[in-house]
Amino acid sequence: MRARFLPWLPHGLALLSLAWVWSGISTVNPIQDLIQRSGRAAVTFLLVSLACRPLSRLGFRGLLPLRRPLGLYAFAWASVHFLAWLGLDYGFYWAEVWRQLQEKPFVLFGSLAYLILLSLALTSYRWAMQRLGKNWKRLHRGVYLAALLAVTHFGLARKGDFFRLQGDTLLPGVYLLILLLLLAARLPGFRRRPPAANQPPAKGAD
Ligand code: HEM
Repeated sequence: MRARFLPWLPHGLALLSLAWVWSGISTVNPIQDLIQRSGRAAVTFLLVSLACRPLSRLGFRGLLPLRRPLGLYAFAWASVHFLAWLGLDYGFYWAEVWRQLQEKPFVLFGSLAYLILLSLALTSYRWAMQRLGKNWKRLHRGVYLAALLAVTHFGLARKGDFFRLQGDTLLPGVYLLILLLLLAARLPGFRRRPPAANQPPAKGAD
C-alpha cells in the first residue's frame, strides 16, 4: 500500500483526537475529562503505532515509517495527560504527588509507562540512533513494556477489579486483548516468513 496520503495519516489522526478530546470536555468536571480523554488518546496512539509492523507484514508496507510520528503523538498526549494531572489536579503540590505515587498502584504504573515513553521520545532522532548503535533497537523494544504498563494503568484507573475483569473494565480489557495479539505477532512463528526464492529479505525486518 503506497498511497500519497499515508504520511499525513498520523497528523490527520492527531487532529481527530484533538477534536475528540476538546469536544468531550464538559463544564461540570473539565479537568477530569481532560485527564481521561488525553490518557485514552495516548494509549490508542501507542497501540496504533505498535500495529504498524504486523500490518506491514500483511502487505501494508507503507505503514512502517508511520510508527515514529504515531509514537510521538502517543507521547504528546501522555504529556498533556500527565501535566493536566500534575498541574491542574494537584497544583504541583509535590508532597501529595509523592503520596499518590506510594499509595495508588495505578499512578505508579502510569508513571513508569511515562518515563519509558519519555526516554523513547528523547532518543527517537537520527543523532540518538547513530550514537546508541545496537542499543537503540534494544531500548526501543521498551515500547512494548510501556504499552503493557499503560494498559494496566488504564485498567486499574477504572472502577472495579481489572484483574478479574469486573466493574468498569471492559474497554481496558479490549485494549489488553489487542496488545496481547500484537505481542503474539512478535513470536518467531509469526515474525519471519522465508523470502520468496528470487527476492532479497525485507529491509529493516527484525
Ligand atoms: C506520570 C504518569 C501518569 C499519571 C500520574 C497518570 C494519572 C492518571 C489518573 C489520575 C487517571 C484517572 C483519571 C480519572 O479517572 O479521574 C488516569 C487515567 C488514565 N490514564 Fe494515566 N497517568 C499517567 C500516565 C499515563 C500514560 C503514560 C498513559 C498512556 C500511554 C495513560 C493513560 C491513561 C488512561 C487510558 C486512563 C483512563 C482514562 C479513562 O478512565 O477513560 N496514563 N491517569
